[in-house]
Amino acid sequence: MPKTALLSRFPHTRLIEGPTPVQRLDRLESVLGARAKDITIWAKRDDLMGLGGGGNKLRKLEFLMGQAAAEGCDTLVAIGGVQSNFARLAAAACARSGLACELVLAQMVPRDMAIYQENGNVLLDRLFGARLHILAKGDDAGGFATRRASEMAATGRKVFVATLGGSTPVGCLGYVDCAVEIAMQSAELGVEFDQIVIPNGSGGMHAGLAAGMVVAGRDPSRIVAHTVLSPVDTCIATTVDKVNAVLQLMSREEQVGPPDLRISGGQLGGGYGIPTQEMVETVRLVGRSEGLLLDPVYGGKAFAGLLRDIEIGTIAPGSNVLFVMTGGSPGLYAYADALDN
Ligand SMILES: Cc1ncc(COP(=O)(O)O)c(C=O)c1O
Repeated sequence: MPKTALLSRFPHTRLIEGPTPVQRLDRLESVLGARAKDITIWAKRDDLMGLGGGGNKLRKLEFLMGQAAAEGCDTLVAIGGVQSNFARLAAAACARSGLACELVLAQMVPRDMAIYQENGNVLLDRLFGARLHILAKGDDAGGFATRRASEMAATGRKVFVATLGGSTPVGCLGYVDCAVEIAMQSAELGVEFDQIVIPNGSGGMHAGLAAGMVVAGRDPSRIVAHTVLSPVDTCIATTVDKVNAVLQLMSREEQVGPPDLRISGGQLGGGYGIPTQEMVETVRLVGRSEGLLLDPVYGGKAFAGLLRDIEIGTIAPGSNVLFVMTGGSPGLYAYADALDN
């Protein structure tokens, strides 16, 4: 159930078993040694959830599935890239809730090899019983999903269409709730987080967390995001709009502007889903020092940004940093060529 009364009027389907843990990465800190500059590094384990392999998209799906149930839908159509974690978790949430699921998967990354097109999330989508529409390069996923939804509606089905990444204002409410959860855990631990570090893809997680901090009277610029999808200027503009849409949905008067959001473009590399050397080294470092799995598209790049910020002094020595681990480890299998030495 949502942790704040602010969200109680929004339909909600429970998919997560309670707060995800916050853990200190003290082995990583000691491997970094003096390079850690007395900064404590913590992980919010949003990869540790029971359903479908877990990950940040389940928080959005709790509210999206709630909305679909309130509208009496029996079918969900979700849009994503071929290796979309959102699509995988939508398929799992539908299996759990008894809805039919169709996934419209777009070619967002230039990777034609079989491991990318068939393994990882795609393999799991099929195991969860979803029907897949894997589009050709350049095909319009939104148009395809709308046409498919109309076809099914014409046969009497009640269809809910979930857009890319589930980042509608309703979906973002899942991360408003997470901001409250983090504030509670910070109080329990007696640790004030100076920075909360995240990846920004479709911007929904950033928007929800920032809106959650605004309504709690906290500074949303404590969130430091690393864009992994769009160029930094576009990312700032779209994320600002999303935060304001979430605040409006909650009937709040506060609004944010670009100075309230901190987004870095330093880890985007060649673009969405294209591996960088820093990402590969970071996935290995965190794997070897903590036994934890970062994913190659989101968390690997964002954690690389965190390490870079420690190195160049953007994070002050002695700070407490919380990294939100968002899941996505099935994507590792689709990048075996880049990750395997
Ligand atoms: C594992 C993982 N982390 C982070 C993100 C980024 O979340 P958002 O799209 O809300 O910015 C995604 C989005 O697909 C994801 O799958």
